[in-house]
Amino acid sequence: MLSKGVLYGVFSDIHSNLEALSVVLDFFADLEVGGYICCGDLVGYGPDPDACLARIRALPNLSIVCGNHDLAVVGRMDADWFNPYARAAALWTRRQLSAEGRAYLESLTARLETPRFTLAHGTPRRPPEEYLLTTRQFLDNIDYVRVWPLFVGHSHMPVCFRRSPSGAVEQLFPEAGQEIAAARGPDGPGPTAFNPGSVGQARDHDPRACCGVYDSSRGTFRVARLEYDVPGVQAKIRRAGLPEYLALRLAYGQ
Ligand SMILES: [Fe+2]
Repeated sequence: MLSKGVLYGVFSDIHSNLEALSVVLDFFADLEVGGYICCGDLVGYGPDPDACLARIRALPNLSIVCGNHDLAVVGRMDADWFNPYARAAALWTRRQLSAEGRAYLESLTARLETPRFTLAHGTPRRPPEEYLLTTRQFLDNIDYVRVWPLFVGHSHMPVCFRRSPSGAVEQLFPEAGQEIAAARGPDGPGPTAFNPGSVGQARDHDPRACCGVYDSSRGTFRVARLEYDVPGVQAKIRRAGLPEYLALRLAYGQ
């Protein structure tokens, strides 16, 4: 039986979707995870920024980084390069956010190293901006990491990269429930990146909330998909006056 403290709930790209976040946190609670890893983009797009921040801030043993949307909302990154929907949501969120929520987002860094793993929203090389999408990018980022595995978000796609001791690099697209082991290093996990997909705005044509579970005692990771109340969130988006497209896309997972 696993003891507490070795199972981590891994989640990213919540995007102010409280219904999806609640389902994911309930799932982690049922597993009795001992810690949490959050790869950023807590807000933006969705209708419940402060409520999501309150839930996340209350988590024990939380390792967390901010994403590009979090930075744009608090004015630490220019929202002008966002598409019109993302920019409209960032500006709406900026107006809604409490002083407490804003201060919390301002306290976060986009890259974090802990004794057991490293987190970056996008990549360790360019944490808020670069998407980790290819094996070439993974190789180019390896020298920026000292503690493996690396957890990332940003692409909203559940994916894993790993380099074997022989130098071969794999890109894996995990099915829900499929367990993937980190590459072996001399003293523990070797070069491996895990992306848990997106809690609040899936983009892989599966509208369910996506998250991951990392077992640090075995160096394994698995993805979970969870149903949540999509119509309820769509109704909130419309009531808030956010762009209609942000409601529609949730139903299609894109
Ligand atoms: Fe995101």
